[in-house]
Amino acid sequence: MKEFKVAFLGFGNVGTGTYKIIKENGSKIFQREGINITVKKILVRNVNKKRPVEVEPDLLTDNIKEIIEDPEIAVVAEFIGGEEPAREYILSALNNKKTVVTANKEVMARHWEELENAAIRNGCGLYYEASVAGGIPIIKVVRESLQGNNITEIMGIINGTTNYILTKMSEEERKFEDVLAEAQKLGYAEPDPTSDVEGYDAMYKLSILSTLAFHTRVRISDVYREGITNITPEDIAFGKELGYTLKLLAIAKKHGNKIEARVHPTFISADHPLATVRDAYNAIFIKGDAVGNLMLYGRGAGDLPTGSAVVSDIVNACLHQSKHMYSTLCNGDWKADEVLFDNNWETEFFIRMTVIDKPGVLAKIAGIFGKYGVSISSVIQKGRNSIHVPIIFVTHKAKEMSIKKAINEIKNEDVVIKIGNVIRVEH
Ligand code: NDP
Ligand code: HSE
Repeated sequence: MKEFKVAFLGFGNVGTGTYKIIKENGSKIFQREGINITVKKILVRNVNKKRPVEVEPDLLTDNIKEIIEDPEIAVVAEFIGGEEPAREYILSALNNKKTVVTANKEVMARHWEELENAAIRNGCGLYYEASVAGGIPIIKVVRESLQGNNITEIMGIINGTTNYILTKMSEEERKFEDVLAEAQKLGYAEPDPTSDVEGYDAMYKLSILSTLAFHTRVRISDVYREGITNITPEDIAFGKELGYTLKLLAIAKKHGNKIEARVHPTFISADHPLATVRDAYNAIFIKGDAVGNLMLYGRGAGDLPTGSAVVSDIVNACLHQSKHMYSTLCNGDWKADEVLFDNNWETEFFIRMTVIDKPGVLAKIAGIFGKYGVSISSVIQKGRNSIHVPIIFVTHKAKEMSIKKAINEIKNEDVVIKIGNVIRVEH
């Protein structure tokens, strides 16, 4: 049986989850696969911190050199998170001929070329299944199971924390801050949860997924991003009245040589398959020209679901030491000369505003929408007895830029008190 020594960088949610799986299921996994894997060192910030799992104290270190310079360690699994020092440690590991497994979507999305080129140069592997959608094996599916397809669309819920928050706000009418604190306690949120609630985490993940799916480098600067912090209970309640459920969706579409990639709060019809994805679950819908529609569903965050993806990468890293797989982009160049990134996509819109309740207001606003080619599919006005009333417009499909121009003009009308929120609607 071949022996492999592995080191962990980080021992928080993902690190302890991975460790627990190796302790619980390790002997069976390794017997099946014909290898033996031992965790030799674990890098942490504070070696004295109390840990939720028991580890021998001499396993823990705060000195990266004890890992990078140890010739016995063949695989380094990184779950520190963030850009630095994660990038530096991964590069040092690769340059010291160690294969790297990472759950870090930020470092992958920002530094993919540098890291993968270092892996190739050093003849080692770079594995990142856990970086997107926790326990769902989506990277493997897109890379290894859908090569026969021209993938034209990805649409999904790829952040567990925001899905947990939106589920609880919508179903239990709970406050944003309370539910976020709960998601942090449950180990779903990023070390800095701004990354979750402002859509950065989903942006990194969409950059990774669409790069693999479209065989084109989709950089984070090519992904439009909007988080959920401006969403109010009123938006959710009005959406419900219209038969919608609110989700933070990640959407990437390819039409010819044009790619659109966006992350934003989105209303979907309550009977849409993604509307039933609750709590920290994720689901990703993929459209390929050969396979048709495909949907993957599972736990998108948390210690054990993510550990499941990490353990699979560690086992594969050990099994394929002599032949690692790289992304298709590393065979060519990473530029996307032929591709245009499109930010004028077309979708329906839900627009909530507060206006003065007097005759002619509706006609005035509808007139401005009409001027920019935006057609209205429905209007709801609430409360007749006050001076200021909320009004909701739902549009037919319209161009993003037309909506922006219309809203810019509408907000300057003296009958308009406030533009509350503009939320895209997908079907
Ligand atoms: P945690 O904050 O729970 O854990 C981070 C760990 O890294 C801690 O053990 C910390 O040490 C250690 N660490 C942080 N900075 C340093 C440093 N400079 N030097 C040495 N050690 C350091 O994070 P998570 O486990 O939740 O997330 C880790 C990564 O996994 C992130 O990239 C995240 O995006 C990704 N991920 C997380 C998922 C989840 O559900 N939580 C799911 C999928 C991916 P100490 O304990 O001493 O403070
Ligand atoms: N914070 C991330 C989420 C962890 O909530 O989805 C999984 O990548």
